[in-house]
Amino acid sequence: MTIGIIGAGNIGVAVATTLASIAATIANSRGPESLKDSVRHLSTIKAGAREEAANADIVLIAVNWSKLPAAVAGLPAWDGRIVIDANNPVEAPLFKPVDLQGRVSSQVVAELVSGARLVKAFNHLRAEVLASDPRTDGGRRVLFYCGDDISAKAEVGALIDQIGFAGIDLGTLAVGGKLTQFPGGPLPNQNLVRMG
Ligand SMILES: NC(=O)c1ccc[n+]([C@@H]2O[C@H](COP(=O)([O-])OP(=O)(O)OC[C@H]3O[C@@H](n4cnc5c(N)ncnc54)[C@H](OP(=O)(O)O)[C@@H]3O)[C@@H](O)[C@H]2O)c1
Repeated sequence: MTIGIIGAGNIGVAVATTLASIAATIANSRGPESLKDSVRHLSTIKAGAREEAANADIVLIAVNWSKLPAAVAGLPAWDGRIVIDANNPVEAPLFKPVDLQGRVSSQVVAELVSGARLVKAFNHLRAEVLASDPRTDGGRRVLFYCGDDISAKAEVGALIDQIGFAGIDLGTLAVGGKLTQFPGGPLPNQNLVRMG
């Protein structure tokens, strides 16, 4: 199983950090040369082109909301591969909520990556919390995930467990997406630890 990460800012690098010994390719808009410093300390993470990251079996996308269309434009067909949507429909520095016309943000992202099996995850914690050791306080930090494709969700749930978090399946995108979405949901920034 190969992993790609599109977006190498706060969340992209935090996820790369949590992958620890798992190999992945990470990309931004400016090309691999610009990422040398960001990945130097991450031995299994390779800086690559956007197309290379997008070619993986599982592709996590963590890009500023308004830049998502450009970040996925012109990529090869998804052909049922998994996309993890780590995005929230809001942008620094104004954090003005986006009008989603009644949908959850992942339903909007799913349309941008038509043909992929989309799972929402890695979006409810601040990047610095996400990047810190998931084995903490005698338990494992909780990561929520949700999606409409059962098998894609199972694969992402297994990855979440493998890297040391306690995954909690919140159901469909419509239900789970609403719970974890920032702004609006009740779960963003809830830094929970499952004991035992
Ligand atoms: N920050 C948090 O604590 C946090 C928490 C939860 C969820 N989120 C969500 O995660 C997403 C990313 O946030 P962030 O804080 O990581 O943002 P960020 O630090 O600003 O990083 C954004 C990344 O997206 C890349 N990017 C922009 N346009 C691109 C394109 N066309 N192709 C490839 N890469 C492109 C940027 O690359 P360049 O610099 O080369 O343009 C940069 O590496 C957002 O949707 C945000 O709402 C953030």
